[in-house]
Amino acid sequence: MSVSFRDWPVNKQFMRRLVKPDTWYLQGVTMDNAQSQPHVVVGDEYALIIDTTDLDLDLRAYVEENFPGKKLAVACTHSHGDHTENNYQFADCPIYMTQIAWEEVQASKKNPRPNGQWSHPLNYEPVIIGDGDIIDLGGRQIECLKFAGCHSASSIVYLDLKYGCLFTGDEFEGGQVLIMGARGNNCIELYRDNCVALKEKIAGRATCVCPPHNGSPIDIQILDNMIENCEQIMAGREGMEDIRSFTFGLNPHGYAIGGFVNDDVRRSEWKGTSIVYNKKRIFYKDCEA
Ligand SMILES: [Fe+2]
Repeated sequence: MSVSFRDWPVNKQFMRRLVKPDTWYLQGVTMDNAQSQPHVVVGDEYALIIDTTDLDLDLRAYVEENFPGKKLAVACTHSHGDHTENNYQFADCPIYMTQIAWEEVQASKKNPRPNGQWSHPLNYEPVIIGDGDIIDLGGRQIECLKFAGCHSASSIVYLDLKYGCLFTGDEFEGGQVLIMGARGNNCIELYRDNCVALKEKIAGRATCVCPPHNGSPIDIQILDNMIENCEQIMAGREGMEDIRSFTFGLNPHGYAIGGFVNDDVRRSEWKGTSIVYNKKRIFYKDCEA
């Protein structure tokens, strides 16, 4: 008999870990880090859910039960269904995302997955945000920072100005960053430049990275290691042909994601960072169509 975790008592559907004061990482009961997990950032007035994920769990009820008296809002790091699908649970709340994210969410709903995944109706209109915008939670502000989108063109990252948490979505995480954005010049050189620009913007303000996959938080120092990883690739050190990991598929070719994985894809590991990239898309010049 299969078990539906959605039927479990609400408070058993997630565990939560305190990342910083009033800053929570929620771990869904499936305990699968290949699935994205939400964070909740609590201000005087609002509890902000960063990435609602696609966990088949009652996230809304869990947040209402554990953060009583707070209005709710949602911030999406990018458009991908495993980060945005549960937005439907918060249709009556402000839902922040970029213009490209909104375009991509709408497009994905016009092309439903054959297996029924991510099939909830699009029942909300988002609040479009961009670089420099501030989300005010009451006594706590979240700054939206451009990250030009190497995992997804729709990406934006969020900096908590009170405790220095940086919410990056899949542009920066501890398992592997997939350089796969279909729009724009998603090469290693751009990713390196994004990381360097971000490092300058957050200098003295960020203390940790809070990604949705493969563990949160990570000390902010990891950003330097990621920049080094990019520079290693740009200097000619080719990553491994075996791109697998336990959250990116157990065969040497990882998951087959919409044509992203092919014979040119490599995995570069360096000081606790991993980048999965196309060896023919290293520099800007490689991406000039
Ligand atoms: Fe993603």
